[in-house]
Amino acid sequence: MELKQLGNTRIMVPEIGLGTWNYSGGVEPLRKGIELGACLIDTAEGYHTEDVVGQAIKGIRGRVFVATKVSGRHLAYDDVLRAAEGSLRLLDIDYIDLYQIHWPNSRFPIKETMRAMERLADSGVVKYIGVSNFSTEELREAQSFMSNHPIVSNQVLYNLNSREIERDLLPYCQKNEITIIAYTPLGSGGLAKNTRFISNRKMKVLEQTANELQKTMSQVSLNWCTSRPNVIAIPKSNSLGRTIENCLASGWRLSQKNIQLLDEAFS
Ligand SMILES: NC(=O)c1ccc[n+]([C@@H]2O[C@H](COP(=O)([O-])OP(=O)(O)OC[C@H]3O[C@@H](n4cnc5c(N)ncnc54)[C@H](OP(=O)(O)O)[C@@H]3O)[C@@H](O)[C@H]2O)c1
Repeated sequence: MELKQLGNTRIMVPEIGLGTWNYSGGVEPLRKGIELGACLIDTAEGYHTEDVVGQAIKGIRGRVFVATKVSGRHLAYDDVLRAAEGSLRLLDIDYIDLYQIHWPNSRFPIKETMRAMERLADSGVVKYIGVSNFSTEELREAQSFMSNHPIVSNQVLYNLNSREIERDLLPYCQKNEITIIAYTPLGSGGLAKNTRFISNRKMKVLEQTANELQKTMSQVSLNWCTSRPNVIAIPKSNSLGRTIENCLASGWRLSQKNIQLLDEAFS
């Protein structure tokens, strides 16, 4: 499994992690993913999967990078602290590796929210602070209120068919050493198998690339994401076999020519 630097830290994280939104696969796929090097698990207080993640990492917590999120409804100072406590309890751990603000919410002053996030990091309950679904402007504003800790990541929608962040968020994060954690990297499964949701022309190029490289479409889609500097991806699968398949999207690279053909087809 290839590793990438987390934000501007010295911590290395796998380029493929394990998503758990709508996850119902039990502990086995998560444990297998960890064994294969996908040792970053993403959850959230809103996912109701922190408990299964807790079970999956029991006894191997030190080998796992646990990322969870405070809900966009809980961004008042005290609520952030309370939410973190709740996540620690459900995950059955005593620190969170990456604590992310799930969604920005203009009802709460971001200054207060970031102050609470820093308090958690100061006390060691949280190792690194991240955000999710933040625009470049929102990210800049949040950064302006940080005094002791950097924002190391922004978790956003990014896949072959959803490229909006390439306009300015991705270049901004690359320039400022903020890791992009690409969510829905398989387009909710549409980039892993032929469906009617994506045009035949695009899927044909994806399928041809996969066939040429003797990889699967999911592996090509994930490798396309992680071929971008600063980008890691967190596919979700309930299945042991598909989790293994997704982990094997790392350890090799699409050629520049492959990337160019995919970029042209999906542009
Ligand atoms: N921060 C946010 O607001 C936010 C929003 C959305 C998602 N996320 C995070 O990102 C993670 C991934 O995103 P996602 O769950 O939306 O979508 P995704 O990972 O793009 O796609 C998941 C879907 O693809 C299927 N799949 C997975 N691997 C496959 C393979 N190798 N072949 C065929 N089908 C495959 C899964 O089915 P099976 O389970 O049956 O394999 C599932 O239906 C989430 O779990 C969550 O952790 C974050």
